Amino acid sequence: MPSNIGNPEERRRSFSWSDARKELGFPEDSHNIGWYCSDRICDLGMGEKTALVWETADGRVARFTFNDLRVYSNAYAKHLSGLGLRPGDRVAVFLERVPELYIGMLGGMKAGLIMQPLFSAFGEDALEKRISNAETSAILTCRKLTFRVRKIRERCPSLRHVIVCDPGDLSFQEGEAAFGLETAKPVESFACYPAEPETPSILHYTSGTTGMPKGALHVHGSLPAQALTSKWVLDIKDEDIYWCTADPGWVTGTSYGIIGPWALGATQYVLEAGFIIDRWYRAIQDQKITVWYSAPTAIRMLMKEGEAKAKQYDLSSLRHLCSVGEPLNPEAVVWSERVYGLPFHDTWWQTETGCIQVTNVPGMEIRPGSMGKAFPGVTAAVLAHDFTEICEPNKQGLLALKPPWPSMFRTYWRNPSAYESKFKNGWYLTGDRARIDEDGFYWFMGRDDDVINTAGHLVGPFEIESALLEHEAVAESAAIGKPDPVNMEVVKAFVALKAGFEPSRKLEMSIMNFIRKKLSPLAMPQEIEFVEKLPKTRSGKIMRRVLRAQELGQEVGDLSTLDDN
Ligand code: PRX
Repeated sequence: MPSNIGNPEERRRSFSWSDARKELGFPEDSHNIGWYCSDRICDLGMGEKTALVWETADGRVARFTFNDLRVYSNAYAKHLSGLGLRPGDRVAVFLERVPELYIGMLGGMKAGLIMQPLFSAFGEDALEKRISNAETSAILTCRKLTFRVRKIRERCPSLRHVIVCDPGDLSFQEGEAAFGLETAKPVESFACYPAEPETPSILHYTSGTTGMPKGALHVHGSLPAQALTSKWVLDIKDEDIYWCTADPGWVTGTSYGIIGPWALGATQYVLEAGFIIDRWYRAIQDQKITVWYSAPTAIRMLMKEGEAKAKQYDLSSLRHLCSVGEPLNPEAVVWSERVYGLPFHDTWWQTETGCIQVTNVPGMEIRPGSMGKAFPGVTAAVLAHDFTEICEPNKQGLLALKPPWPSMFRTYWRNPSAYESKFKNGWYLTGDRARIDEDGFYWFMGRDDDVINTAGHLVGPFEIESALLEHEAVAESAAIGKPDPVNMEVVKAFVALKAGFEPSRKLEMSIMNFIRKKLSPLAMPQEIEFVEKLPKTRSGKIMRRVLRAQELGQEVGDLSTLDDN
């Protein structure tokens, strides 16, 4: 079967965004993502096509057509507008992977609201920080998570509406009300907010080295980029059953778990449950998944279970495999080719880029371990520390992209200086290091900052350190990423205790649990080392690089700025 992209080199040579819009058949006059992903697909005569195959945690399967997406996203749009929410207001989505999440996101965008997806695993502090920063007005949630939302309401006065999709016998407190698909009435027509390309659509929080997580603001005009990369990189075709394993709390789950595939009218499968190997293989077998977009940690877990496990299932429906979020080890590419008969195609991008930027595409040589080449229309480079381009092949530098592109973030919410600091000499700095080989293939070399990548999720050390300081026993702390064979990195914390506290296994467990509940299971340190004091610069900044080097048994490097050196 020919790939959608055809000849990648030719596409790179002749690319223009206006041709791309034509290829996608996108009209010029409306840009509302909610409308594109539902009404427009119905207008094209595909209203009865399955848009979503949803499998519950307990194994039941429900199906939604594009017409269902259309009328129920209208219902959400009408309901949210009826509450007095106005275009530009922020609405958080704090749900597990249930249809209300996907349809609620489309509905909110139809009403011109800025949707703010949040991981259901977030603890109180993680939730509060993001809602306070965005001054979020409403939150879509479920009964189970309502109890966590209640804990932050007092500290988040902007949050006026808590919308519970499955209240059962929950007795509501002030500002809480029910709205979900069980009871919502389909709404035939809703006048979508006439979004311009620059109208904000989604606010995704992401972690950096310094400060609290930052809200990367995206716009409705991102759509052609997400749709085109879904078409050319993920190679999604009309007859495909596509499965993106990412949660929409993560940008992969919105750009490629909602927007891109549905803008193409594709059928998506969603599994409510998390990673359980037999359920994953059974899903591929029973739902006849053809295109599968996953992440290296999951692939490594599949590899750990071995070929024999894969052979217990009929995985012959698979046609195209892609991966994102962390470096994809060369062995994983070779293994998947042997076991599934198909290589995983590595794709590289970020919350800030909104869509795939450097990638392997169908029809192109795969060099296992390489992220591939720049997507057509993308100008990428590696830069020296003075932000000039390195032209010599294989020399490592800062991975940078030439702005603009349609799905690029437009700012960090209420943090313009952090946004500006990402641009130097006409380049957007990604925070990653890479090298480009003599044939133009990109190789990931690591992060250029202290951000921890655990199982594909970025965790900011500062957020963990701030939370650690709230534990009664902690005087000061530092968090680093420690290499891990499955999760790429896990969080390790160095902790100096307050007077009167002694290191013990019990205290270690208490600190770990404290972070798990406050932030999330991913941010929880897997290891805690008690220390007398932490290495700091003379100005008092903790030198995480010294701790990291010691941990890895590497040279510590220049210590001239170290306090009491
Ligand atoms: O460090 C890179 C890593 O994940 C970062 C972006 O994380 P986030 O904004 O959460 O978005 C992840 C999903 C798009 C990058 O700066 N990363 C992402 N993809 C790859 C990767 N590292 C190596 N190889 C990749 N393919």
